[in-house]
Amino acid sequence: MRARINALSFIILAIFLCNGVVVINSEDPYRFFTWKVTYGDIYPLGVKQQGILINGQFPGPQIDSVTNDNLIISVYNYLREPFLISWNGLQHRRNSWQNGMPGTNCPIPPGKNFTYVLKVKDQIGSFFYFPSLAMHKAAGAFGAIRIWSRPRIPVPFPPPSGDFTLLAGDWFKTDHHRLRRLLDNGHNLPFPDGLLINGRGWNGQTFTVDQGKTYRFRISNVGLTTSLNLRIQGHKMKLVEVEGSHTIQNIYSSIDIHLGQSYSVLVTADQPAQDYYIVVSTRFTRRVLTTTAILHYSNSRKGVSGPIPAGPTLNIASSVFQARTIRKNLTASGPRPNPQGSYHYGLIKPSRTIVLANSGPYINGKQRYAVNSVSYIAPDTPLKLADYFNIPGVFYVGSIPTYPTGGNAYLQTSVMGANFHEFVEIVFQNWENSVQSWHIDGYSAFVVGYGGGQWTDGSRGGYNLRDAVARSNIQVYPRSWTAIYMALDNVGMWNIRSENWGRQYLGQQFYLRVYTPSKSWRDEYPVPKNALLCGRARGRHTRPF
Ligand SMILES: *[C@@H]1O[C@H](CO)[C@@H](O)[C@H](O)[C@H]1NC(C)=O
Ligand SMILES: *[C@@H]1O[C@H](CO)[C@@H](O)[C@H](O)[C@H]1NC(C)=O
Repeated sequence: MRARINALSFIILAIFLCNGVVVINSEDPYRFFTWKVTYGDIYPLGVKQQGILINGQFPGPQIDSVTNDNLIISVYNYLREPFLISWNGLQHRRNSWQNGMPGTNCPIPPGKNFTYVLKVKDQIGSFFYFPSLAMHKAAGAFGAIRIWSRPRIPVPFPPPSGDFTLLAGDWFKTDHHRLRRLLDNGHNLPFPDGLLINGRGWNGQTFTVDQGKTYRFRISNVGLTTSLNLRIQGHKMKLVEVEGSHTIQNIYSSIDIHLGQSYSVLVTADQPAQDYYIVVSTRFTRRVLTTTAILHYSNSRKGVSGPIPAGPTLNIASSVFQARTIRKNLTASGPRPNPQGSYHYGLIKPSRTIVLANSGPYINGKQRYAVNSVSYIAPDTPLKLADYFNIPGVFYVGSIPTYPTGGNAYLQTSVMGANFHEFVEIVFQNWENSVQSWHIDGYSAFVVGYGGGQWTDGSRGGYNLRDAVARSNIQVYPRSWTAIYMALDNVGMWNIRSENWGRQYLGQQFYLRVYTPSKSWRDEYPVPKNALLCGRARGRHTRPF
């Protein structure tokens, strides 16, 4: 029966596609967005910069959606250069065509438009979108995505009196074109100039609350280079959600947010009626950058005062300790009514182990960054399109080893092969002195362990095989490892990358090709009718059957 309903909706899809209208599923609601991407002057740190705005806004507009909604987002590129948006944390089931990374999509040329057809299938939680090309992320065009639970799906906390978004990140006063030239010339990014909260500097953003009430804050690190710590003067934070997992509701006085990560906390306005600092500072940096926003009680009789509360800086042990306390609430529901713990990832034996080691080699006299000695270089045709149209010579599967080789680093368009329905263990091994932050597109993975030094088979003894959170942004501490379990249940070409934007730009990324020989739409959608075609895919037909 279910298969027949799916078949029917695919027929509906096909009909709409033939008419040039893009619709995926007749059963779930649609939300339509028209985004005009332009340059515009912004002054986030007090000096004029060329920002990238969406509908005149910096940060871009927030997307509000409900589990299973169809999001139809038409993006008009009014920049003088190609542009593309990607979605941090959206899984695009069967549909890496919509992922918006340069390995899956052709860029939107200047003056052109592209309509993304997204479905937030079986997802809840807090995420964000960002521009994936060049160094556009250093100029804006990012924004929040909130996916609400469907009505009647129990949420494991009372409805808060307000739901605030807090996009925090480091920021450069340097123009994004100049940052890009710096990288192209073989240097990494310098230390950032400051921090922003929702695109604003010191005390630029006010969150107004009523005394006695409880609010949800959705916090994401949308920055380029540094981990952050967040705290609220005089207030505690109750953690409730991490990138789509409802958590054990621990209380924290400060929270570390690594690059790309998102957290939801509940904050009760239970203090005397005045204003309080919300503080964000850089974590694990010798020089500490700080910025503040304001928690304003609606009946406040006093502005912010007193010292800005200090946070942890270089101490790593406290961050590891905190990371281990972040666990899934097994009896709470996720996107569906069944409890989150009903899927026992800990009882499944991984079919293999992939070990990914980061490094920062010099290649041809230039600073690059690599995974297992391979520094990614972009092909002339998006990998996904080359794969679909069987265009030879763009990439080959297995062009990156699944273990560190210790060999000399080299440039390559790196694609790792994997089979649909494999269940894999991935170990991120970090021998560098800096904290790493990894992102996996198309998936959320169970973060089963953090440990110091070299990972070994014996490290598995310390895994959390019961209530690890599933997420798509994963930190790895200096000279340490982090292990994840991942069920490869989403066919497609998926980017795995450093969320440190200079490292990502200089090659610390690759694509994971999750493959099935089946051509069934139940496993993967065909190329969308409106797909942009570039490189050696130009002129191909998007409807070959
Ligand atoms: C959007 O792009 C399509 C072709 O990709 C074009 O036919 C259409 O006119 C464009 N729409 C606008 C409003 O520019
Ligand atoms: C887990 O979720 C359940 C169901 O909503 C809730 O009653 C319980 O308090 C939560 N437990 C913790 C430890 O957060």
